[in-house]
Amino acid sequence: DYKSRVTVVGSGNWGSVAAKLIASNTLKLNSFRDEVKMWVFEETLQSGEKLTDVINRTNENVKYLPGIKLGKNVIADPDLENAVKDADMLVFVTPHQFMEGICKRLVGKVREDAEAISLIKGMEVKMEGPCMISTLISEQLGINCSVLMGANIANEIAVEKFSEATIGYRDKREIAEQWNVVAIAAGFVDGLDMGNNTKAAIMRIGLKEMIAFSKLLFSSVRDSTFFESCGVADVITTCLGGRNRKVAEAFAKNGGKRSFDELEAEMLQGQKLQGVSTAREVYEVLSHRGWLELFPLFATVHDLCRSSSTIRHS
Ligand code: NAD
Ligand code: 13P
Repeated sequence: DYKSRVTVVGSGNWGSVAAKLIASNTLKLNSFRDEVKMWVFEETLQSGEKLTDVINRTNENVKYLPGIKLGKNVIADPDLENAVKDADMLVFVTPHQFMEGICKRLVGKVREDAEAISLIKGMEVKMEGPCMISTLISEQLGINCSVLMGANIANEIAVEKFSEATIGYRDKREIAEQWNVVAIAAGFVDGLDMGNNTKAAIMRIGLKEMIAFSKLLFSSVRDSTFFESCGVADVITTCLGGRNRKVAEAFAKNGGKRSFDELEAEMLQGQKLQGVSTAREVYEVLSHRGWLELFPLFATVHDLCRSSSTIRHS
């Protein structure tokens, strides 16, 4: 009997958790091959060893998900083309800024009947307007691409705490776009010690702006989507527990004197924030379309994020 092959493209904090969960499922399901390939953006660790070799030797992503066994059937592969070539199912989970380059490298290299799913937040801003990452994948690779998003802090799922997610797919059109921009605003509130009332207000306004922004850009968006895990629940968890919130808190505590780039490198050791670049991308769309006044929270988050570079260079 034919057995489907799954490849995970990406191996950061969330990518590693996705590979672990998928690999535990493929072991249980007869219709899947046990082995799950995970493409790793290769890097050399401080010990001098390649990350891929360490993952394959220890079954652990010691840099992005330390302390968690991924399962022996997760095979790390630094060769992107080789990792995807026979896959029936492709799970994309890299920081969004790398996806355009990855898609370009994958044109003509994936099976024509492969099914993809994106676990990626953020969007790609092009001259002709913003493009969802799932659309980028679908259009560049000529395959169907669904989306999974939700209140999903990776480290909690890694230790198998309960969590739910929303899946968006083409036939029953759902939009599952979530921007960590609001989590950065929540982090500022924490850093300035402004209290829970203010933080709740930020979450409310943030969600309102997300709904308005999504509807202006994509007319098929439904209100109900924002009451799913990928909407309100994700706003809450990222504003309470996420990495964007944490680094934004440190940024505000330092009065903007240290940049997000510096704090990200120091606090996250290679993990990537989506909020700062997404705030910039959203801002570009807002200013290009003359919508800045309609979105004070989004616009202010970007102004504050970039204020550090002004402070540093002046
Ligand atoms: P991460 O931020 O933990 O790690 C960064 C990853 O990017 C590493 O695998 C690194 O090797 C890779 N990388 C660095 N430079 C690269 C390059 N030039 N090209 C390709 N890859 C490169 O990653 P993550 O947490 O797995 O995030 C992936 C996506 O999942 C993001 O969109 C994120 O918002 C989303 N997400 C994350 C979480 C979470 O809790 N971590 C939860 C839900 C969604
Ligand atoms: P952070 O990237 O801010 O940790 O958010 C994680 C997340 O997206 C949870 O759904």
